[in-house]
Amino acid sequence: MTGAGGAAEQTHPGDAVLDLRDVHRTHGQGEAAVHALRGVTLTVGPGELVAVMGPSGSGKSTLLALAGGLDAPTAGEVRVEGQPLGALDRRALARLRRRRIGYVFQNLNLLGSLTAAENVALPLELDGLGVRHARRAAQAALVEVGLAELGERFPDQMSGGQQQRVAIARALVGQRRLVLADEPTGALDSQTGEAVLRLLRRRVDAGAAAVLVTHESRHAAWADRVVFLRDGVMVDSTAPLGGVEQLLAGSGR
Ligand SMILES: Nc1ncnc2c1ncn2[C@@H]1O[C@H](COP(=O)(O)OP(=O)(O)O)[C@@H](O)[C@H]1O
Ligand SMILES: [Mg+2]
Repeated sequence: MTGAGGAAEQTHPGDAVLDLRDVHRTHGQGEAAVHALRGVTLTVGPGELVAVMGPSGSGKSTLLALAGGLDAPTAGEVRVEGQPLGALDRRALARLRRRRIGYVFQNLNLLGSLTAAENVALPLELDGLGVRHARRAAQAALVEVGLAELGERFPDQMSGGQQQRVAIARALVGQRRLVLADEPTGALDSQTGEAVLRLLRRRVDAGAAAVLVTHESRHAAWADRVVFLRDGVMVDSTAPLGGVEQLLAGSGR
């Protein structure tokens, strides 16, 4: 993409928010082994939004889970803000995830027994922030995603699109430096989908780094860079969108 190379040159490697170095992830062993990722290297700096595209089963969700410390690589290294995740114990990893990483799950993972506002405030409260401050930050995040009036609703009292926006508010709440979103526009109509991308873009322009998994080149167009996965390998990290579309068209997705 135009400009991506220049930005990469300006960014000192130590400045990367996310750094995947020759990352492999294999499930199972021997003949049953599934190589979900086979040597992926990806660096995302502050102010950078990277879109990940690729056919179903190509390793997109695995890549995001590794980046978010939800899964560990079989080989290679994952660093967030220079910190190798493999060097952290569970408690330190959980803290880093709460404070630094916003994650929008493909299946949302909202807690049904909590209201929208409580869902959004939860990571801050777990981190020790006082309830009142956490609620205020949660309300600000709900306003940001256009749900100012719905904070007291439970997930099952909201539409799929509204639930998705709650999940996005939970990922953006506080001062997250790394936002990871797995097809966050899946259940949204195209207008709301664009609004979500605009929010992500705004947060990135304010200095965060983000990785967005998406099937839609229209959404990938919001990114500074598009990387394409096929069978766990990064095929081309510099292809213009037309090239990616061609690859997708050939993938039988
Ligand atoms: N826990 C698991 N056990 C075994 N295989 C898995 C597991 N998770 C993912 N895989 C396999 O790894 C590959 C990549 O999966 P995934 O990252 O979910 O792809 P995508 O998100 O691109 O659809 C697929 O072949 C999938 O079946
Ligand atoms: Mg997936």
